[in-house]
Order: sequence, then structure tokens, then C-alpha cells
Amino acid sequence: MTTVEIELRINGSAHRLDVAPQVSLLDALREYLGLTGTKKGCDQGACGACTVLVDGRRINACLALAVQYQDREITTIEGVDHPLQEAFVRTDGFQCGYCTPGQICSAIGMLAEHKEGAPSAATEHLADTGGELDEAEIRERMSGNLCRCGAYNGIVSAIKEVAK
Ligand code: FES
Ligand code: FES
Repeated sequence: MTTVEIELRINGSAHRLDVAPQVSLLDALREYLGLTGTKKGCDQGACGACTVLVDGRRINACLALAVQYQDREITTIEGVDHPLQEAFVRTDGFQCGYCTPGQICSAIGMLAEHKEGAPSAATEHLADTGGELDEAEIRERMSGNLCRCGAYNGIVSAIKEVAK
């Protein structure tokens, strides 16, 4: 099998690895580097369990090829130090915890998107962006992250608390 040597920058450190060109960023993180905080749910872009941040923006690592992400700043849950983590604990934002790393990485990316004025389908007029992050906005903007335990109320409360 043909492999390529690549270097990934993850949580501030450089990692060299040999991967086949078709290896996803998710598999590179979990199987090659042992960073198992990022979860594999559907492996097809539907659940958000694999969400990581690349240059501060959220992506689904299962839909990304590792070879495409050299020289980018990748942040996984292992590298996150954010008030959202404590907020999730305070508000009971998890049960089994499987979706939690993806929820937290996604929420960090979402808060930044909202700050930059990115519109959402919950915004009636697209020009009205960057306003209050109310519950409808949070639910819409986090809709790519599924929780099989149904901890949605706690997740929304945690994000609301941090967004204030
Ligand atoms: S594992 Fe990537 S979106 Fe479900
Ligand atoms: S807490 Fe179990 S899947 Fe979300």
C-alpha cells in the first residue's frame, strides 16, 4: 500500500506519520496518534462526534483527508481549555459523554462564527446577524451535532451560559 509521510500540527505539537492518501483526519488522530478524544460516530458527516477545530473553524474530521491538513493548526478536545468544559459539567450537558468532545469543539467554533456575524437559518433577516445568541440560534447552529442520550437541554444551557 502506498503511504505518504505527512506532518500534522495538533494542539501545538508537530506529529510526523506515514499514512495512505485515503486515510481520514479522524482515523489519523485516533488510530495513528492515539488521540481518542475525537469520536467516530457515523463516519459519514452526519453526527458531529468527530468535530475538531482547524485554524479555529469547526470541521468534521471523518470527511477530511489527513494529507490535506498539513501546515494547519488542528485542535482536538485534548488541546481545549475553555469555560465551556466547566459549563457542560455544571449544566449536566452530557450523559454517556460520547458526543461531548464534538459538541464542545463545535460550540467553540460556533461561538466564533456568531461573533463574526455568520447568519443562520434561525435568523429571519440575513442582515440581522451577530445579535443575541438565543436558544433558537444555539439549537440551529449546533444542529450538526447529535446526542444519542438527548442531553440537548444541558448542552444548550452550557453554551448560553458561556455566550453571555
Ligand atoms: S463521525 Fe464524523 S460526522 Fe459522524
Ligand atoms: S451524552 Fe451520550 S451521546 Fe451525547
